[in-house]
Amino acid sequence: MTWPDNGASAAARQQMAAALTGGPVSEWTEAFAAIPRHVFVPRFYQQDSTGAWQSLTWGDPGYLESIYSDEALTTQLDDKGVPTSSSSQPSVMLRMLEALDAEEGHQVLELGTGTGYNAALLSHRVGDKVVTSVDIDYGLVKAAGNHLDTVGLRPFVACTDGAQGWPDRAPYDRVIATVGLHSIPGPILDQAAPGAVIVVPLGYGIVRVTVTEPGHASGRFVTPAYFMARRSNGVAPRFAEVAQAEPTDTSVPPPGISWTG
Ligand SMILES: C[S@@+](CC[C@H](N)C(=O)[O-])C[C@H]1O[C@@H](n2cnc3c(N)ncnc32)[C@H](O)[C@@H]1O
Repeated sequence: MTWPDNGASAAARQQMAAALTGGPVSEWTEAFAAIPRHVFVPRFYQQDSTGAWQSLTWGDPGYLESIYSDEALTTQLDDKGVPTSSSSQPSVMLRMLEALDAEEGHQVLELGTGTGYNAALLSHRVGDKVVTSVDIDYGLVKAAGNHLDTVGLRPFVACTDGAQGWPDRAPYDRVIATVGLHSIPGPILDQAAPGAVIVVPLGYGIVRVTVTEPGHASGRFVTPAYFMARRSNGVAPRFAEVAQAEPTDTSVPPPGISWTG
């Protein structure tokens, strides 16, 4: 065993997998049961009642319970205490992975490697050789590579702005973003194969689109969810600014949105 694991963590993992997927066992039940989330999240941060961040790691009371519960976990803070990476809420990850409809052998691109946990779930499902995962933060990419290595998976991980995709390994049959976007970046559409499925957080929802012709895709929102916003190099997310912004109206109905380009 190359990572701390015991009866409690193994049982908690099985329980989370069963609770998440419910009903009949699916390929995703197997993936969530097989991949030890604690290896990818050796430490996370929680705010106490004063708003101060406290870190929890293996052996701390509550650590394992949180790891194997349906919680998003903050895994990195910047020097002002603003979260810059997290392990997403497992039920939302599952919903997105189901929407992605990835099969063994599909070339898959993930934007937002973070801890590497989602890349591990994908690798378990489609094979690690066909998974490419990128993050803008070099430290995270390096740590994710180590986590993946620990569980014996070696997808291709790289540091870049996800908006650029990773052209060298295109075309992709499936693209999933686990970072909030304003729109689907042009290079991502260009690197997607005809018929490719793209699942991304846009605003407060997850959108699933299918590439209809080069540079064009259409689809709809599949579930509400919010992800931390895409960063540009060196620029932290401006949460305070967003909280103070005036609400605006939109005339676009949430279901059935389609667009081109
Ligand atoms: C919610 S976390 C991703 C969780 C990850 N999939 C996992 O399983 O742990 C969002 C990630 O997006 C990354 N990110 C932010 N801006 C980015 C950008 N422009 N390009 C690529 N990744 C970006 C952050 O560094 C962060 O690690």
